[in-house]
Amino acid sequence: MNFDFDLVVRSFPLLLLGAGITLKITALSVGFGLLIGMFVGMARLAKSAVVRIPASIYVHFLRGTPLLVQIFLIYFAIPIVMGTRVDPFVAAVTACSINSGAYVAEIFRAGIQSIDKGQMEAGRSLGMNWVQTMRYIILPQALKRILPPLGNEFIAMLKDSSLVSAIGFEELTRRGQLIIARTYGSFEIWLSVAFIYLIMTFTISRLVDYLERRYKTDDKH
Ligand code: ARG
Repeated sequence: MNFDFDLVVRSFPLLLLGAGITLKITALSVGFGLLIGMFVGMARLAKSAVVRIPASIYVHFLRGTPLLVQIFLIYFAIPIVMGTRVDPFVAAVTACSINSGAYVAEIFRAGIQSIDKGQMEAGRSLGMNWVQTMRYIILPQALKRILPPLGNEFIAMLKDSSLVSAIGFEELTRRGQLIIARTYGSFEIWLSVAFIYLIMTFTISRLVDYLERRYKTDDKH
């Protein structure tokens, strides 16, 4: 077997550009996912069934179907209904954000539920309403606890974003496929692609470790 190291060197800049795009889709998706997830997560805990049930359906539908199918649905099926083409970037970010929102919702729900219910009672007895108590007392405490699972979600999304290569969106995985189509260097390129993903996930997990240490919850005091 001969390993064409030169091919790795020549393709690296192109792959790095793809990695930049992967990071962009991931950051946007988890960003929107956080926003969606925070509200859906709280909605899952609402007393009113009108709020709780749609939130439950959202989470179950998105976690119960493959992300790849959701990407295809948005990219190929929605245009049939709407009559317009969807840009692959928009389809990719939409699918990943909606999907991430469901996972983040569960993270928020668990985080909020982990805060002693006395905290809500204390807030309410001080005259704050539900929203104020959530905003100023519950969420700040929950956020510290959910930092590690949110970091995991970011890493998971970074890897799962490779699925958008199936609609031809040129992120890291798709770039790899295209370079292989031209050069036949499957081994060299897939190894490089794997290495670049690894560097990205490793860096993020170090960053999350750092944040976790910095905002360490100390429930003893
Ligand atoms: N691999 C799973 C799927 O295909 C999960 C994808 C979503 N991942 C995420 N971190 N939101 O459905």
